[in-house]
Amino acid sequence: MKKITRVGVLTSGGDSPGMNAAIRSVFKTCKHYNIECFGIRRGYQGLIENDIFELKPSDVKQIIHLGGTILKSARSKEFISLEGRQKAFKNLKLNHIDALVVIGGDGTFTGAMYFEKEFGIPIIGAPGTIDNDIYGSDSTIGYDTALNTAMEAIDKLRDTATSHERLFFVEVMGRDAGYIALNSGIASGAIEILIPETKYNMDLFFENLRKGAENGKISNIVVVAEGEKDTTIYELAEATKKAFPLYEPKITILGHIQRGGSPTCSDRVIASRMGVAAVEGLLEGKSSVMAGIKANQIVYTSFEEAVKKREQLEPHLIKTASILAI
Ligand code: F6P
Repeated sequence: MKKITRVGVLTSGGDSPGMNAAIRSVFKTCKHYNIECFGIRRGYQGLIENDIFELKPSDVKQIIHLGGTILKSARSKEFISLEGRQKAFKNLKLNHIDALVVIGGDGTFTGAMYFEKEFGIPIIGAPGTIDNDIYGSDSTIGYDTALNTAMEAIDKLRDTATSHERLFFVEVMGRDAGYIALNSGIASGAIEILIPETKYNMDLFFENLRKGAENGKISNIVVVAEGEKDTTIYELAEATKKAFPLYEPKITILGHIQRGGSPTCSDRVIASRMGVAAVEGLLEGKSSVMAGIKANQIVYTSFEEAVKKREQLEPHLIKTASILAI
């Protein structure tokens, strides 16, 4: 096994709160083991463009509480091609970087998997995405913060929903996954939660609305995951208006607000732990794996599994949402 003396770190894909805590942790762990640490800007794109610099203690000072990523992020189209990856490898060699820590989601790990296979460079990942759609970790960096942001926003919508006795349809992020929708929906007392993992039943929703109205509940919150496949938030609002002409449905798309803000304590802690585990994993000779946390323990999962497999949504959570809907 080749001795690792210089590690490169990058953030790629959609940014997520806590990525800075992870960068800081990778840097400090490298220092702890006498390894030089280099930052790569804008993910794989920076690797292709040789936008690489030696990280200094001042770069990671006062960043643990900051949202976004000091290294910036991108979804590099060029890295998808072998030609792009060849350029990236050339720049790694030029900078004498002999291992990488990549912080991101499924696209990031898929790219890393190819890169490692083709050029033999050791790579360990840390799951950074608000969607929490990565197999091999109970939570991804940024998910908890995004959940709290969504919950707080929905609480605010509830104030106006109650005052005006209105029905609000709120779309939360989650390209293919319903984690944010399900948990923020439960936490904010939604009457209905639509997620891509379960089949949507409009009749049941209307039945619940009717039951609610009978009990004097006229203001309601419906949470829809961005990745919902059976309907769209617009179709749903329109169908509801038709079935309940007295209601005045309002639509709110929370959007990128969910990706920003200071990371929660939980996100800072998991990002810090994953950063340490990523560097230590490299030193132990691991590669093409992601450092995740399951049941409070560090676990390494192959990139292939992390990307291809899906964690099952806890059935009890789904049952809880349905029992508490009305
Ligand atoms: O990072 C995950 C995510 O926020 C998804 O929830 C969303 O679908 C997507 O990224 C949006 O990506 P972009 O910012 O590139 O539009």
